[in-house]
Amino acid sequence: MPSVFGLSVALGLIAPSIIVEAATCDIYGYGKTPCVAAHSTTRALYDAYNGPLYQVRRAYDNATKDINPLGPGRTANAATQDTFCAYTTCLITQIYDQSGHGNHLTQAPPGKTRGPAAGGYDSLASATAAPISVNGSKAYGLYIAPQTGYRQDKTSGIATYDQPEGMYEVLDGTHYGGCCFDYGNVEGNNMDNGAGHMETIYFGLNEGYNVGSGAGQGPWIMADLENGIFSGKNLGNNSNDPTINYRFTTAIVKGESNHWAIRGANAQFGGLTTFYDGVRPDGFNPMRKEGAIVLGVGGDNTDGGEGTFYEGAMTSGYPLDNIEAYVQANIVNMNYKTVS
Ligand SMILES: *[C@@H]1O[C@H](CO)[C@@H](O)[C@H](O)[C@H]1NC(C)=O
Ligand SMILES: *[C@@H]1O[C@H](CO)[C@@H](O)[C@H](O)[C@H]1NC(C)=O
Ligand SMILES: *[C@@H]1O[C@H](CO)[C@@H](O)[C@H](O)[C@H]1NC(C)=O
Repeated sequence: MPSVFGLSVALGLIAPSIIVEAATCDIYGYGKTPCVAAHSTTRALYDAYNGPLYQVRRAYDNATKDINPLGPGRTANAATQDTFCAYTTCLITQIYDQSGHGNHLTQAPPGKTRGPAAGGYDSLASATAAPISVNGSKAYGLYIAPQTGYRQDKTSGIATYDQPEGMYEVLDGTHYGGCCFDYGNVEGNNMDNGAGHMETIYFGLNEGYNVGSGAGQGPWIMADLENGIFSGKNLGNNSNDPTINYRFTTAIVKGESNHWAIRGANAQFGGLTTFYDGVRPDGFNPMRKEGAIVLGVGGDNTDGGEGTFYEGAMTSGYPLDNIEAYVQANIVNMNYKTVS
């Protein structure tokens, strides 16, 4: 099957059963919206990927170790972490970019105006705080407590200015808080550079400055676009954006010129639903994206949010809804489950 993926076959000619078996970033590649950043502590996001997924550091001697997949395209070899971290504690020091663009995420540097102790880096996540099962194998998610964050300011291939992009992540819909558990495109200087300088998936509550909301009590999937976390066209309460709190939740935000969307799903079952698909908010057209990447904090390093991340990617180009349907099907196929 992997050989099929190298061919540039018109999408319509690929049997759905084959594409469902392709990993998420192979699917985006088929859709001509390739991943330019691919991050996961639980699995390879390409069928051919056999490089490191993430790096851990243990407390007792500060030694580091890369955690790899079980084989090409497979889930993480969590047993190597368990052996390395036995009798001590481990932190996740790096989440590698599987896309080949070198967009690895490391400990987030201080924001100039926000963040933990001025001048200090954000915290690193415990390597063992979010154990789960994926495809029948044990793996660990990335547990973001408040003040924890990862970032890459020097990127390649990521959308800038008004260029189109897509993003998805699988997260724990029962772990959330305030501002800002973000994943996506942010400022390159760790500062708030104004409206439209970010385009990220936000997951959490309506807490803080210029944070929107949706139907019910939350949490909601929203888009942090800088100086505004949007659940729809206008900042505020958009009732089309439902409370979503599946234990494993798929969250999508994508944007192109004067057009963007929010989508979500239960990552264990069923398909995606579109919660917003329309024009940009006033003052956000054109966008002024800067192309740095953040995970767990805001673009200016606002670090009061929390959540748990399992996998995610950013694309070059605006993914079609039907490509995302295959991405969701592949996620469901991975059979994410809790472990006791
Ligand atoms: C590990 O590194 C930290 C930070 O550099 C340092 O404070 C600590 O003493 C080191 N621990 C060991 C066991 O070397
Ligand atoms: C899922 O498990 C099956 C059966 O063990 C295995 O053949 C397959 O390669 C696994 N897939 C991944 C992505 O690890
Ligand atoms: C948003 O509005 C809906 C009604 O449309 C309401 O049920 C909900 O409580 C509101 N949420 C917030 C956070 O104001």
